[in-house]
Amino acid sequence: MTTYTLRKGSPAKTRTDLVVIGVARSGQGDLVALPGAEDVADAYGRRFKPLLTSMGFRGDPGEVLRIPTAGTINAAQLLVVGLGTRDGLTQERLRRAAGVAARNVGNAASVALALPAEDADHVRAVAEGFLAGGYAFKRYKSRSDETGVSDVSILSDVARRRDAIAALETARTVSGLVNRARDWVNTPPNDLTPELFADAVVTLGKDLTGRSRRPKVEIEVIGVEELQALGCGGILGVGQGSANGPRLVRLTWAPEGARSSLALVGKGITYDSGGLTIKPGSSMATMKYDMGGAAAVIAATFAIAELGLPVAVTTYAPMAENMLSGSAMRPGDVLTMYDGRTVEVTNTDAEGRLILADALAMAAQGDHTAIVDVATLTGACIVALGDKVAGLFGDDDTTAAVAAAAEVSGEMLWRLPIPEQSHEAVRTESKIADVFQHNWVRWGSSLFAAAFLSEFVAGKPWAHLDIAGPAYNGGGAWGHVPSGATGYAITTLVAYAASLAGEPSAAEEAS
Ligand code: BES
Ligand code: MN
Ligand code: ZN
Repeated sequence: MTTYTLRKGSPAKTRTDLVVIGVARSGQGDLVALPGAEDVADAYGRRFKPLLTSMGFRGDPGEVLRIPTAGTINAAQLLVVGLGTRDGLTQERLRRAAGVAARNVGNAASVALALPAEDADHVRAVAEGFLAGGYAFKRYKSRSDETGVSDVSILSDVARRRDAIAALETARTVSGLVNRARDWVNTPPNDLTPELFADAVVTLGKDLTGRSRRPKVEIEVIGVEELQALGCGGILGVGQGSANGPRLVRLTWAPEGARSSLALVGKGITYDSGGLTIKPGSSMATMKYDMGGAAAVIAATFAIAELGLPVAVTTYAPMAENMLSGSAMRPGDVLTMYDGRTVEVTNTDAEGRLILADALAMAAQGDHTAIVDVATLTGACIVALGDKVAGLFGDDDTTAAVAAAAEVSGEMLWRLPIPEQSHEAVRTESKIADVFQHNWVRWGSSLFAAAFLSEFVAGKPWAHLDIAGPAYNGGGAWGHVPSGATGYAITTLVAYAASLAGEPSAAEEAS
Protein backbone atom coordinates (compact mmCIF):
# COMPACT_ATOMS: atom_id res chain seq x y z
CA MET A 1 0.00 0.00 0.00
CA THR A 2 1.23 3.43 -0.89
CA THR A 3 0.14 6.42 1.16
CA TYR A 4 -0.46 9.75 -0.56
CA THR A 5 -0.31 13.03 1.30
CA LEU A 6 -0.68 16.58 0.18
CA ARG A 7 1.38 19.10 2.09
CA LYS A 8 3.07 22.41 2.04
CA GLY A 9 6.82 22.38 2.36
CA SER A 10 10.15 23.13 0.82
CA PRO A 11 11.33 20.38 -1.55
CA ALA A 12 14.95 21.19 -0.74
CA LYS A 13 14.35 20.64 2.99
CA THR A 14 11.95 17.69 2.75
CA ARG A 15 13.29 14.49 4.27
CA THR A 16 12.55 11.88 1.65
CA ASP A 17 14.49 9.51 -0.59
CA LEU A 18 13.77 11.33 -3.80
CA VAL A 19 12.42 14.69 -4.91
CA VAL A 20 10.80 15.16 -8.33
CA ILE A 21 10.96 18.54 -10.05
CA GLY A 22 9.84 19.79 -13.45
CA VAL A 23 12.05 21.66 -15.85
CA ALA A 24 10.86 23.29 -19.07
CA ARG A 25 12.34 25.36 -21.87
CA SER A 26 11.76 29.06 -22.33
CA GLY A 27 11.05 30.62 -25.72
CA GLN A 28 14.80 31.25 -26.05
CA GLY A 29 15.54 27.59 -25.37
CA ASP A 30 16.91 28.12 -21.85
CA LEU A 31 16.08 25.59 -19.17
CA VAL A 32 13.66 26.94 -16.58
CA ALA A 33 12.82 25.42 -13.21
CA LEU A 34 9.01 25.24 -12.98
CA PRO A 35 6.95 26.34 -9.98
CA GLY A 36 7.73 24.00 -7.12
CA ALA A 37 11.28 23.50 -8.34
CA GLU A 38 12.68 26.98 -7.63
CA ASP A 39 13.68 26.05 -4.11
CA VAL A 40 15.76 23.11 -5.36
CA ALA A 41 17.25 25.22 -8.14
CA ASP A 42 18.21 27.83 -5.54
CA ALA A 43 19.95 25.21 -3.42
CA TYR A 44 22.11 24.34 -6.44
CA GLY A 45 22.57 28.03 -7.23
CA ARG A 46 24.56 28.82 -10.36
CA ARG A 47 25.48 25.17 -10.80
CA PHE A 48 21.89 24.14 -11.56
CA LYS A 49 21.52 24.69 -15.32
CA PRO A 50 25.12 23.74 -16.23
CA LEU A 51 24.62 20.51 -14.28
CA LEU A 52 21.53 19.59 -16.30
CA THR A 53 23.07 20.73 -19.58
CA SER A 54 26.25 18.76 -18.95
CA MET A 55 24.12 15.64 -18.66
CA GLY A 56 22.50 16.41 -22.00
CA PHE A 57 19.13 17.30 -20.45
CA ARG A 58 17.00 19.42 -22.76
CA GLY A 59 13.70 19.61 -20.91
CA ASP A 60 11.77 17.66 -23.56
CA PRO A 61 8.50 15.96 -22.62
CA GLY A 62 9.22 12.42 -21.49
CA GLU A 63 12.83 13.18 -20.64
CA VAL A 64 14.17 12.25 -17.19
CA LEU A 65 17.39 12.63 -15.29
CA ARG A 66 18.04 11.04 -11.89
CA ILE A 67 21.03 12.34 -9.99
CA PRO A 68 22.55 11.93 -6.53
CA THR A 69 22.30 15.21 -4.63
CA ALA A 70 25.40 14.69 -2.46
CA GLY A 71 23.85 16.78 0.29
CA THR A 72 22.83 19.79 -1.80
CA ILE A 73 19.23 19.15 -0.72
CA ASN A 74 17.96 16.87 2.04
CA ALA A 75 16.81 14.11 -0.29
CA ALA A 76 19.48 11.71 -1.52
CA GLN A 77 18.21 11.72 -5.10
CA LEU A 78 16.74 14.28 -7.45
CA LEU A 79 14.58 13.30 -10.39
CA VAL A 80 14.27 16.00 -13.03
CA VAL A 81 11.45 15.54 -15.57
CA GLY A 82 11.11 17.51 -18.78
CA LEU A 83 7.86 19.31 -19.57
CA GLY A 84 8.64 20.82 -22.98
CA THR A 85 7.99 24.49 -23.60
CA ARG A 86 7.13 26.55 -20.54
CA ASP A 87 4.17 28.29 -22.14
CA GLY A 88 0.84 26.55 -22.40
CA LEU A 89 1.51 24.07 -19.64
CA THR A 90 -1.66 21.97 -19.82
CA GLN A 91 -2.99 19.54 -17.26
CA GLU A 92 -2.33 16.71 -19.67
CA ARG A 93 1.35 17.63 -19.97
CA LEU A 94 1.58 17.64 -16.18
CA ARG A 95 -0.19 14.28 -16.00
CA ARG A 96 2.23 12.80 -18.51
CA ALA A 97 5.27 14.22 -16.71
CA ALA A 98 4.05 12.83 -13.38
CA GLY A 99 3.49 9.48 -15.11
CA VAL A 100 7.05 9.47 -16.42
CA ALA A 101 8.28 10.32 -12.92
CA ALA A 102 6.38 7.37 -11.44
CA ARG A 103 8.29 4.93 -13.65
CA ASN A 104 11.67 6.46 -12.85
CA VAL A 105 11.82 6.59 -9.06
CA GLY A 106 14.38 3.79 -8.99
CA ASN A 107 14.90 2.34 -5.53
CA ALA A 108 13.26 5.20 -3.62
CA ALA A 109 10.74 4.19 -0.96
CA SER A 110 9.60 7.75 -0.26
CA VAL A 111 9.04 10.35 -2.93
CA ALA A 112 8.15 14.04 -2.79
CA LEU A 113 6.57 15.50 -5.91
CA ALA A 114 7.52 19.13 -6.40
CA LEU A 115 5.92 19.43 -9.83
CA PRO A 116 3.78 22.52 -10.50
CA ALA A 117 0.78 22.17 -8.16
CA GLU A 118 -0.45 25.72 -7.87
CA ASP A 119 -4.17 24.97 -7.87
CA ALA A 120 -6.54 22.06 -7.37
CA ASP A 121 -6.56 21.10 -11.07
CA HIS A 122 -2.76 20.85 -11.01
CA VAL A 123 -2.85 18.74 -7.85
CA ARG A 124 -5.32 16.41 -9.50
CA ALA A 125 -3.24 16.15 -12.68
CA VAL A 126 -0.02 15.41 -10.78
CA ALA A 127 -1.69 12.81 -8.58
CA GLU A 128 -3.54 11.17 -11.48
CA GLY A 129 -0.45 11.06 -13.62
CA PHE A 130 1.68 9.52 -10.89
CA LEU A 131 -0.96 6.97 -9.88
CA ALA A 132 -1.68 5.94 -13.45
CA GLY A 133 1.90 6.06 -14.68
CA GLY A 134 3.22 3.80 -11.94
CA TYR A 135 0.87 0.96 -12.90
CA ALA A 136 2.35 -2.40 -13.78
CA PHE A 137 0.62 -5.77 -14.15
CA LYS A 138 2.63 -8.33 -12.22
CA ARG A 139 0.03 -10.94 -11.31
CA TYR A 140 1.55 -13.63 -13.51
CA LYS A 141 5.22 -12.98 -12.70
CA SER A 142 6.29 -15.54 -10.13
CA ARG A 143 9.22 -13.42 -9.04
CA SER A 144 9.22 -9.70 -8.59
CA ASP A 145 12.27 -8.00 -7.13
CA GLU A 146 10.80 -4.52 -6.95
CA THR A 147 9.97 -3.13 -3.54
CA GLY A 148 8.04 -0.08 -4.72
CA VAL A 149 7.25 3.33 -3.30
CA SER A 150 5.47 3.40 0.05
CA ASP A 151 5.15 7.16 0.64
CA VAL A 152 4.27 9.83 -1.87
CA SER A 153 3.88 13.43 -0.83
CA ILE A 154 2.66 16.07 -3.19
CA LEU A 155 4.15 19.41 -2.25
CA SER A 156 1.87 22.34 -2.91
CA ASP A 157 1.34 25.84 -1.61
CA VAL A 158 -2.43 25.22 -1.75
CA ALA A 159 -2.14 21.99 0.24
CA ARG A 160 -4.53 23.19 2.93
CA ARG A 161 -7.21 24.39 0.58
CA ARG A 162 -10.33 22.26 0.60
CA ASP A 163 -10.57 22.02 -3.17
CA ALA A 164 -6.97 20.79 -3.36
CA ILE A 165 -7.58 18.10 -0.74
CA ALA A 166 -10.71 17.04 -2.62
CA ALA A 167 -8.73 16.98 -5.88
CA LEU A 168 -6.30 14.45 -4.44
CA GLU A 169 -9.21 12.27 -3.30
CA THR A 170 -10.80 12.50 -6.73
CA ALA A 171 -7.53 11.52 -8.38
CA ARG A 172 -7.17 8.52 -6.08
CA THR A 173 -10.71 7.35 -6.80
CA VAL A 174 -10.49 7.76 -10.56
CA SER A 175 -6.96 6.40 -10.98
CA GLY A 176 -7.73 3.50 -8.67
CA LEU A 177 -10.58 2.50 -10.96
CA VAL A 178 -8.53 3.10 -14.12
CA ASN A 179 -5.98 0.65 -12.71
CA ARG A 180 -8.72 -1.88 -11.86
CA ALA A 181 -9.97 -1.73 -15.42
CA ARG A 182 -6.40 -2.23 -16.67
CA ASP A 183 -6.10 -5.33 -14.48
CA TRP A 184 -9.24 -6.80 -16.04
CA VAL A 185 -8.07 -6.08 -19.57
CA ASN A 186 -4.57 -7.46 -18.93
CA THR A 187 -5.93 -10.63 -17.34
CA PRO A 188 -5.52 -13.53 -19.77
CA PRO A 189 -8.74 -14.77 -21.36
CA ASN A 190 -8.61 -18.17 -19.62
CA ASP A 191 -8.92 -16.33 -16.32
CA LEU A 192 -11.43 -13.75 -17.50
CA THR A 193 -14.34 -15.54 -19.15
CA PRO A 194 -17.70 -13.76 -19.25
CA GLU A 195 -18.69 -15.48 -16.02
CA LEU A 196 -15.42 -14.57 -14.25
CA PHE A 197 -15.56 -11.01 -15.56
CA ALA A 198 -19.09 -10.60 -14.19
CA ASP A 199 -17.96 -12.10 -10.87
CA ALA A 200 -15.07 -9.63 -10.70
CA VAL A 201 -17.50 -6.73 -11.22
CA VAL A 202 -19.75 -8.00 -8.41
CA THR A 203 -16.74 -8.41 -6.11
CA LEU A 204 -15.51 -4.90 -6.81
CA GLY A 205 -19.00 -3.54 -6.17
CA LYS A 206 -19.04 -5.23 -2.76
CA ASP A 207 -15.56 -3.93 -1.90
CA LEU A 208 -16.54 -0.38 -2.72
CA THR A 209 -19.85 -0.57 -0.89
CA GLY A 210 -18.10 -2.10 2.13
CA ARG A 211 -15.59 0.71 2.32
CA SER A 212 -18.09 3.54 2.20
CA ARG A 213 -20.96 1.62 3.84
CA ARG A 214 -23.35 3.22 1.39
CA PRO A 215 -25.13 0.98 -1.10
CA LYS A 216 -24.05 2.64 -4.25
CA VAL A 217 -24.17 0.85 -7.52
CA GLU A 218 -26.79 -1.82 -8.07
CA ILE A 219 -25.37 -4.74 -10.06
CA GLU A 220 -27.39 -7.31 -11.98
CA VAL A 221 -25.82 -10.23 -13.79
CA ILE A 222 -28.08 -11.60 -16.51
CA GLY A 223 -27.30 -15.20 -17.49
CA VAL A 224 -28.08 -17.30 -20.56
CA GLU A 225 -31.63 -18.30 -19.67
CA GLU A 226 -32.66 -14.76 -18.89
CA LEU A 227 -30.98 -13.53 -22.08
CA GLN A 228 -33.12 -16.05 -23.95
CA ALA A 229 -36.24 -14.82 -22.19
CA LEU A 230 -35.31 -11.24 -23.02
CA GLY A 231 -34.65 -12.07 -26.67
CA CYS A 232 -31.02 -10.96 -26.77
CA GLY A 233 -30.23 -12.76 -30.01
CA GLY A 234 -27.01 -10.85 -30.62
CA ILE A 235 -25.35 -11.68 -27.30
CA LEU A 236 -26.55 -15.28 -27.47
CA GLY A 237 -25.49 -15.72 -31.10
CA VAL A 238 -21.96 -14.52 -30.49
CA GLY A 239 -21.67 -16.49 -27.24
CA GLN A 240 -23.08 -19.80 -28.50
CA GLY A 241 -19.80 -21.17 -29.86
CA SER A 242 -18.03 -21.00 -26.53
CA ALA A 243 -18.06 -23.37 -23.57
CA ASN A 244 -18.08 -20.20 -21.46
CA GLY A 245 -21.55 -18.77 -21.81
CA PRO A 246 -22.33 -15.07 -22.25
CA ARG A 247 -23.55 -12.61 -19.63
CA LEU A 248 -25.05 -9.15 -19.57
CA VAL A 249 -24.03 -7.02 -16.61
CA ARG A 250 -26.22 -4.06 -15.78
CA LEU A 251 -25.10 -1.40 -13.31
CA THR A 252 -27.36 1.30 -11.93
CA TRP A 253 -26.31 4.42 -10.09
CA ALA A 254 -29.40 6.41 -9.17
CA PRO A 255 -28.47 9.29 -6.87
CA GLU A 256 -31.12 11.48 -5.33
CA GLY A 257 -31.57 14.75 -7.13
CA ALA A 258 -29.91 13.51 -10.31
CA ARG A 259 -29.72 16.30 -12.88
CA SER A 260 -29.56 14.05 -15.90
CA SER A 261 -29.40 10.42 -16.87
CA LEU A 262 -26.63 8.76 -18.81
CA ALA A 263 -26.67 5.31 -20.41
CA LEU A 264 -23.31 3.66 -21.00
CA VAL A 265 -22.74 0.59 -23.14
CA GLY A 266 -19.42 -1.25 -23.46
CA LYS A 267 -18.22 -4.11 -25.65
CA GLY A 268 -17.19 -7.04 -23.48
CA ILE A 269 -15.75 -9.70 -25.78
CA THR A 270 -13.48 -11.55 -23.36
CA TYR A 271 -11.72 -13.18 -26.30
CA ASP A 272 -12.15 -12.61 -30.02
CA SER A 273 -10.91 -15.51 -32.13
CA GLY A 274 -13.06 -14.23 -34.97
CA GLY A 275 -15.32 -17.28 -34.74
CA LEU A 276 -15.78 -19.28 -37.95
CA THR A 277 -14.56 -16.24 -39.86
CA ILE A 278 -11.35 -16.96 -37.98
CA LYS A 279 -8.65 -14.35 -37.51
CA PRO A 280 -5.08 -14.96 -38.61
CA GLY A 281 -2.89 -16.02 -35.67
CA SER A 282 -1.04 -12.75 -35.37
CA SER A 283 -4.28 -10.76 -35.08
CA MET A 284 -5.61 -13.08 -32.41
CA ALA A 285 -2.73 -12.91 -29.94
CA THR A 286 -3.89 -9.81 -28.06
CA MET A 287 -7.64 -10.29 -28.47
CA LYS A 288 -8.13 -10.57 -24.71
CA TYR A 289 -8.39 -6.79 -24.81
CA ASP A 290 -11.63 -6.91 -26.78
CA MET A 291 -13.49 -6.29 -23.50
CA GLY A 292 -11.76 -2.94 -22.94
CA GLY A 293 -14.96 -1.02 -23.68
CA ALA A 294 -16.91 -2.95 -21.03
CA ALA A 295 -14.09 -2.51 -18.51
CA ALA A 296 -14.08 1.23 -19.23
CA VAL A 297 -17.82 1.84 -18.82
CA ILE A 298 -17.95 -0.30 -15.67
CA ALA A 299 -14.96 1.46 -14.07
CA ALA A 300 -16.38 4.85 -15.06
CA THR A 301 -19.73 3.98 -13.46
CA PHE A 302 -18.07 3.05 -10.17
CA ALA A 303 -15.96 6.21 -10.32
CA ILE A 304 -19.00 8.43 -10.93
CA ALA A 305 -20.75 6.77 -7.97
CA GLU A 306 -17.71 7.03 -5.69
CA LEU A 307 -17.42 10.71 -6.53
CA GLY A 308 -21.12 11.11 -5.82
CA LEU A 309 -21.82 12.93 -9.07
CA PRO A 310 -25.53 13.83 -9.28
CA VAL A 311 -26.07 12.07 -12.62
CA ALA A 312 -28.01 8.84 -12.93
CA VAL A 313 -26.05 6.19 -14.81
CA THR A 314 -27.33 2.94 -16.29
CA THR A 315 -24.58 0.81 -17.72
CA TYR A 316 -24.88 -2.23 -19.97
CA ALA A 317 -21.89 -4.50 -20.42
CA PRO A 318 -22.64 -7.45 -22.71
CA MET A 319 -19.95 -10.12 -22.24
CA ALA A 320 -19.26 -13.02 -24.57
CA GLU A 321 -16.41 -15.14 -25.86
CA ASN A 322 -16.24 -15.28 -29.65
CA MET A 323 -15.13 -18.84 -30.36
CA LEU A 324 -15.56 -21.46 -33.03
CA SER A 325 -17.00 -24.90 -32.43
CA GLY A 326 -19.79 -27.17 -33.61
CA SER A 327 -22.27 -24.85 -31.95
CA ALA A 328 -20.79 -21.60 -33.22
CA MET A 329 -22.77 -18.98 -35.10
CA ARG A 330 -22.25 -19.24 -38.88
CA PRO A 331 -21.90 -16.67 -41.61
CA GLY A 332 -25.38 -16.83 -43.12
CA ASP A 333 -27.24 -17.14 -39.83
CA VAL A 334 -30.04 -14.71 -39.08
CA LEU A 335 -30.37 -13.45 -35.51
CA THR A 336 -33.33 -11.71 -33.91
CA MET A 337 -32.17 -8.86 -31.73
CA TYR A 338 -33.63 -7.49 -28.50
CA ASP A 339 -35.68 -4.88 -30.38
CA GLY A 340 -37.22 -7.58 -32.59
CA ARG A 341 -35.33 -6.77 -35.74
CA THR A 342 -33.49 -9.47 -37.69
CA VAL A 343 -29.82 -9.31 -38.65
CA GLU A 344 -28.15 -11.36 -41.36
CA VAL A 345 -24.67 -12.37 -40.19
CA THR A 346 -22.06 -12.45 -42.94
CA ASN A 347 -18.86 -12.30 -40.89
CA THR A 348 -18.62 -13.80 -37.41
CA ASP A 349 -15.59 -11.60 -36.72
CA ALA A 350 -17.84 -8.53 -36.75
CA GLU A 351 -19.25 -9.74 -33.43
CA GLY A 352 -18.94 -6.56 -31.39
CA ARG A 353 -21.81 -4.82 -33.15
CA LEU A 354 -24.05 -7.85 -32.51
CA ILE A 355 -23.67 -7.85 -28.74
CA LEU A 356 -23.84 -4.05 -28.68
CA ALA A 357 -27.08 -4.02 -30.70
CA ASP A 358 -28.98 -5.80 -27.92
CA ALA A 359 -27.48 -3.58 -25.22
CA LEU A 360 -28.04 -0.35 -27.16
CA ALA A 361 -31.64 -1.30 -27.88
CA MET A 362 -32.16 -1.90 -24.17
CA ALA A 363 -30.53 1.43 -23.30
CA ALA A 364 -32.67 3.18 -25.92
CA GLN A 365 -35.83 2.06 -24.09
CA GLY A 366 -34.87 4.19 -21.09
CA ASP A 367 -35.37 7.91 -20.77
CA HIS A 368 -31.75 9.03 -20.94
CA THR A 369 -30.10 12.36 -21.66
CA ALA A 370 -27.64 10.48 -23.86
CA ILE A 371 -26.33 7.02 -24.69
CA VAL A 372 -22.56 6.58 -25.04
CA ASP A 373 -21.02 3.31 -26.15
CA VAL A 374 -17.35 2.36 -25.98
CA ALA A 375 -15.96 -0.51 -28.04
CA THR A 376 -12.80 -1.99 -29.49
CA LEU A 377 -14.85 -2.25 -32.64
CA THR A 378 -12.77 -2.10 -35.81
CA GLY A 379 -9.18 -2.56 -36.91
CA ALA A 380 -9.93 -0.02 -39.63
CA CYS A 381 -10.20 2.68 -36.97
CA ILE A 382 -6.56 2.00 -36.05
CA VAL A 383 -5.62 2.29 -39.71
CA ALA A 384 -7.41 5.64 -39.86
CA LEU A 385 -6.30 7.25 -36.60
CA GLY A 386 -3.37 5.25 -35.25
CA ASP A 387 -3.22 3.49 -31.91
CA LYS A 388 -3.49 6.53 -29.63
CA VAL A 389 -6.57 8.29 -30.97
CA ALA A 390 -10.14 6.99 -30.65
CA GLY A 391 -12.78 7.43 -33.35
CA LEU A 392 -15.83 9.41 -32.22
CA PHE A 393 -19.18 8.98 -33.99
CA GLY A 394 -22.74 10.10 -33.35
CA ASP A 395 -24.95 13.18 -33.41
CA ASP A 396 -23.48 16.69 -33.28
CA ASP A 397 -24.51 17.61 -29.73
CA THR A 398 -23.53 14.39 -28.01
CA THR A 399 -20.20 14.08 -29.83
CA ALA A 400 -19.41 17.75 -29.05
CA ALA A 401 -20.05 17.16 -25.35
CA VAL A 402 -17.91 14.01 -25.31
CA ALA A 403 -15.14 15.80 -27.23
CA ALA A 404 -15.24 18.66 -24.69
CA ALA A 405 -14.87 16.11 -21.88
CA ALA A 406 -11.86 14.62 -23.67
CA GLU A 407 -10.28 18.08 -23.69
CA VAL A 408 -10.48 17.99 -19.90
CA SER A 409 -9.26 14.40 -19.53
CA GLY A 410 -6.49 14.80 -22.11
CA GLU A 411 -7.51 11.68 -24.03
CA MET A 412 -7.14 11.98 -27.77
CA LEU A 413 -10.11 11.35 -30.04
CA TRP A 414 -11.34 12.47 -33.44
CA ARG A 415 -14.79 12.72 -34.93
CA LEU A 416 -15.51 10.54 -37.94
CA PRO A 417 -18.63 10.67 -40.10
CA ILE A 418 -21.39 8.16 -40.70
CA PRO A 419 -22.20 8.84 -44.35
CA GLU A 420 -25.69 8.30 -45.68
CA GLN A 421 -24.37 5.50 -47.93
CA SER A 422 -23.33 3.52 -44.86
CA HIS A 423 -26.83 3.84 -43.38
CA GLU A 424 -28.24 2.81 -46.76
CA ALA A 425 -26.03 -0.26 -46.98
CA VAL A 426 -26.93 -1.41 -43.45
CA ARG A 427 -30.65 -1.05 -44.24
CA THR A 428 -30.81 -2.45 -47.75
CA GLU A 429 -28.02 -4.92 -48.49
CA SER A 430 -29.50 -8.00 -46.82
CA LYS A 431 -31.68 -9.99 -49.19
CA ILE A 432 -33.53 -11.72 -46.38
CA ALA A 433 -33.23 -9.80 -43.08
CA ASP A 434 -33.94 -6.29 -41.77
CA VAL A 435 -30.35 -5.31 -41.13
CA PHE A 436 -27.09 -6.25 -42.86
CA GLN A 437 -24.29 -7.05 -40.41
CA HIS A 438 -21.17 -6.77 -42.47
CA ASN A 439 -20.23 -5.37 -45.80
CA TRP A 440 -17.40 -7.19 -47.56
CA VAL A 441 -16.31 -3.89 -49.09
CA ARG A 442 -13.31 -3.18 -46.88
CA TRP A 443 -13.17 0.60 -47.19
CA GLY A 444 -14.66 2.59 -44.37
CA SER A 445 -15.59 -0.43 -42.28
CA SER A 446 -15.47 1.65 -39.08
CA LEU A 447 -18.16 3.88 -40.57
CA PHE A 448 -20.28 0.92 -41.61
CA ALA A 449 -19.95 -0.52 -38.08
CA ALA A 450 -21.06 2.81 -36.58
CA ALA A 451 -23.99 2.96 -38.99
CA PHE A 452 -24.98 -0.54 -37.87
CA LEU A 453 -24.93 0.54 -34.21
CA SER A 454 -26.98 3.65 -34.97
CA GLU A 455 -29.84 1.39 -36.11
CA PHE A 456 -30.35 0.31 -32.51
CA VAL A 457 -30.42 3.63 -30.63
CA ALA A 458 -33.90 4.61 -31.85
CA GLY A 459 -32.81 8.12 -32.79
CA LYS A 460 -31.84 8.98 -29.20
CA PRO A 461 -28.87 11.28 -28.44
CA TRP A 462 -25.89 9.01 -28.92
CA ALA A 463 -22.12 8.89 -29.24
CA HIS A 464 -19.94 5.91 -30.09
CA LEU A 465 -16.24 5.67 -29.26
CA ASP A 466 -14.21 3.17 -31.29
CA ILE A 467 -11.24 2.48 -29.00
CA ALA A 468 -9.66 -0.42 -30.94
CA GLY A 469 -6.40 1.58 -31.06
CA PRO A 470 -6.01 3.37 -27.73
CA ALA A 471 -7.44 0.62 -25.47
CA TYR A 472 -4.19 -1.29 -25.68
CA ASN A 473 -0.62 -0.11 -25.92
CA GLY A 474 1.39 -2.72 -27.80
CA GLY A 475 4.53 -0.63 -27.46
CA GLY A 476 6.41 0.78 -24.50
CA ALA A 477 4.99 2.95 -21.72
CA TRP A 478 4.72 6.70 -22.38
CA GLY A 479 3.48 9.52 -20.15
CA HIS A 480 0.95 8.03 -17.72
CA VAL A 481 0.08 5.25 -20.18
CA PRO A 482 1.62 1.87 -19.41
CA SER A 483 2.40 -0.88 -21.85
CA GLY A 484 -0.60 -3.21 -22.33
CA ALA A 485 -4.07 -2.19 -21.16
CA THR A 486 -4.45 1.59 -20.94
CA GLY A 487 -7.83 2.18 -19.30
CA TYR A 488 -8.70 4.52 -22.16
CA ALA A 489 -12.09 6.33 -22.03
CA ILE A 490 -12.65 6.15 -18.26
CA THR A 491 -11.43 9.65 -17.45
CA THR A 492 -13.32 11.09 -20.42
CA LEU A 493 -16.55 9.40 -19.32
CA VAL A 494 -16.11 10.72 -15.77
CA ALA A 495 -15.46 14.23 -17.11
CA TYR A 496 -18.52 13.91 -19.37
CA ALA A 497 -20.68 12.86 -16.41
CA ALA A 498 -19.31 15.79 -14.41
CA SER A 499 -20.29 18.13 -17.25
CA LEU A 500 -23.82 16.66 -17.30
CA ALA A 501 -23.97 17.24 -13.56
CA GLY A 502 -23.02 20.85 -14.13
CA GLU A 503 -19.97 20.38 -11.92
CA PRO A 504 -17.63 23.32 -12.16
CA SER A 505 -13.99 22.38 -12.56
CA ALA A 506 -11.91 22.77 -9.43
CA ALA A 507 -10.38 25.95 -10.86
CA GLU A 508 -13.77 27.57 -11.40
CA GLU A 509 -14.84 26.62 -7.89
CA ALA A 510 -11.83 28.28 -6.29
CA SER A 511 -12.26 31.60 -8.05
N1 BES B 1 -12.15 -6.83 -32.04
C1 BES B 1 -12.06 -6.59 -33.43
C2 BES B 1 -11.52 -5.20 -33.75
C3 BES B 1 -10.09 -4.97 -33.40
C4 BES B 1 -9.10 -5.21 -34.33
C5 BES B 1 -9.75 -4.46 -32.18
C6 BES B 1 -7.78 -5.00 -34.01
C7 BES B 1 -8.44 -4.24 -31.86
C8 BES B 1 -7.45 -4.50 -32.77
C9 BES B 1 -13.42 -6.72 -34.07
O1 BES B 1 -14.28 -7.64 -33.51
C10 BES B 1 -13.17 -7.17 -35.47
O2 BES B 1 -12.73 -8.26 -35.64
N2 BES B 1 -13.46 -6.30 -36.42
C11 BES B 1 -13.26 -6.60 -37.77
C12 BES B 1 -14.41 -5.97 -38.50
C13 BES B 1 -14.52 -6.42 -39.91
C14 BES B 1 -14.93 -7.86 -39.94
C15 BES B 1 -15.52 -5.55 -40.57
C16 BES B 1 -11.94 -6.02 -38.24
O3 BES B 1 -11.53 -4.98 -37.69
O4 BES B 1 -11.31 -6.61 -39.08
MN1 MN C 1 -14.01 -9.59 -34.22
ZN1 ZN D 1 -13.98 -7.98 -31.54
